[in-house]
Amino acid sequence: MIRNVLVVGAGTMGHGIAEVSAIAGYNVYLSDVSKDILNNAIQKVKWSLEKLYEKGNLKESVEDVLGRIKTIEGLSNELREIDISIEAIPEKLDLKRQLFSKLEELLPNNAILATNTSSLPITEIASAVKRQERVIGTHFFNPPVLMQLVEIIRGSKTSDDTVKQTYEFIKSLRKIPIMVNKDVPGFVVNRILLRIITTACMLVEKGICEYTAIDAVARYKLGFPMGIFELVDYTGVDVNYYVSSAMMERGFKAYPCKTLEEMTKKGDLGVKSGKGFYTYP
Ligand code: CAA
Repeated sequence: MIRNVLVVGAGTMGHGIAEVSAIAGYNVYLSDVSKDILNNAIQKVKWSLEKLYEKGNLKESVEDVLGRIKTIEGLSNELREIDISIEAIPEKLDLKRQLFSKLEELLPNNAILATNTSSLPITEIASAVKRQERVIGTHFFNPPVLMQLVEIIRGSKTSDDTVKQTYEFIKSLRKIPIMVNKDVPGFVVNRILLRIITTACMLVEKGICEYTAIDAVARYKLGFPMGIFELVDYTGVDVNYYVSSAMMERGFKAYPCKTLEEMTKKGDLGVKSGKGFYTYP
């Protein structure tokens, strides 16, 4: 029975996952390394909850939902009651492995240790802990509060019981879980999406068309809610660079997009930095 949820990492995905968990009635602990990051995350959750409330899409008051999210700087011993932790820190394998090993020490033995990785194999993250049968992938999409789909990924040692409990938990968030039965790099969505993004990038880098033309094709021909490069800006240029690199290092064949690498190095990260393929006020 899941009651208490820990979300580690209060960035774009982490604060959204904390929000959907609190809306569903769970007690949520949101952890990150600094008070500033946590305050910023709570402001974003508040903005989002107010939007939902204005549109009649929130059954309780904004304050009641926010009251279920407790922020914690770092990780502490007060986590003895956690039933599931969802890690949403940057896409760096070493960082994730260190965190999982710490979580295994601090959390109860039967806690589920989930990761929101977009690309890294669950089995590689799980090998940092002893209780590998409790490690699983729960891949949400940005923004978690509006995106219905969540991929659930089985690592090579994930137990049936962990899969079942996680599946029920995701359904209780009123999301649509899909099972990914093999731990392949990028799972299902990113194996399709990154193929589209890297192809779009190749067309621009080879001078075949402008990135705005690609975005027009996506919106007005393919029926996407955003252009391809708008989506890259929205999810983070750096995130797309790290995700595609991690997948390609593990054998995924796609065009290696130089533009994503250069923009990441320059700090043109998309919406979050004010500049990506487009500019943001
Ligand atoms: N919470 C509450 N409300 C929100 C919100 C949030 N987080 N984000 C946007 N809204 C609101 C907007 O404020 C707006 O409200 P008003 O009508 O009052 O102004 C309303 O939702 C509609 O938003 P927009 O006008 O900005 O435009 P939209 O209709 O295009 O909807 C969208 C926005 C839902 C994000 C839509 O563009 C969309 O579905 N885009 C694609 C997103 C997507 O594919 N995400 C997955 C990316 S891949 C990934 O995340 C994982 C990975 O591995 C990299």
